[in-house]
Amino acid sequence: MLLFLSHTYQVTMSSLVTDPADLEKMRTACQTAAAILDYLTPHVQPGVTTGELDKLCMDYIAQHDIKSATVGYAPPGYTPFPASICTSVNHVICHGIPGDKVLKHGDIMNIDVTIIQDGWFGDTSRMFYIGEPSILARRLTETTFECMWLGIDQVRPGATLGDVGHAIQKHAEKQGFSVVREYCGHGVGRKFHQDPQVLHYGKPGTGVRLEPGMIFTIEPMINAGRKEIRTLADGWTVVTRDHSLSAQWEHAVLVTDTGYEVLTVSEGMPRPPAFIAGA
Ligand code: MF3
Ligand code: CO
Ligand code: CO
Repeated sequence: MLLFLSHTYQVTMSSLVTDPADLEKMRTACQTAAAILDYLTPHVQPGVTTGELDKLCMDYIAQHDIKSATVGYAPPGYTPFPASICTSVNHVICHGIPGDKVLKHGDIMNIDVTIIQDGWFGDTSRMFYIGEPSILARRLTETTFECMWLGIDQVRPGATLGDVGHAIQKHAEKQGFSVVREYCGHGVGRKFHQDPQVLHYGKPGTGVRLEPGMIFTIEPMINAGRKEIRTLADGWTVVTRDHSLSAQWEHAVLVTDTGYEVLTVSEGMPRPPAFIAGA
């Protein structure tokens, strides 16, 4: 989501999810979002259009007892988003609108899906290769995946969001890549976008201190070139200003008493990198 500057955030009891029945509903919504990405995966092929992938997701949603969180979604200053997924191809950073674009061999694409199930929001995204990616596209995609997991691995009570952002930024920049600043992760639960804002850069020990029951996304957007962005005339599509490739992965995580629980899990999700304990 878009980062708001001059922003204050007080952790309130009501923003913490600790009721076991609520948590179970949130798990279910998050797992459904992940299952939709599993469902779309075999359809992501050269020759397929991004609009066809959206149609598949729309049909899946219609056949299950869920709603799209993105169809008609219109934050202040935006026109309603028209689709059930965001499809962000190559130099598109995020919020790509599905349409007639035909996927071709060598493209990389993020698919981001958010659904509402029983009043709870499930939000997750993954990268996809269309055919064989270039060496750079693969390195960017894999590094961004590692960035997301390094951020997740910081999550525990007493850690701060600055620890999360720092872990992500350090790894991205070590590879010569840059972190998008204008968009961030977000609290999620009974609402789509809520506090806290989860920046993908920062300084250790700064920012919001984590407590059990917080739920937020970690969704780094990493550019192969410079960090600057541009928004297209459609009002949604965000691209790299220098037209370099961009990648993004997104999970929703719960802060537990001892660490974290990744909520947006599914059979088909890519496994965590080997450096994650217990992976
Ligand atoms: N799912 C995106 C996120 O991770 C938000 C997409 S809003 C849309 O926050 F309207 F562009 F779909
Ligand atoms: Co999100
Ligand atoms: Co998302």
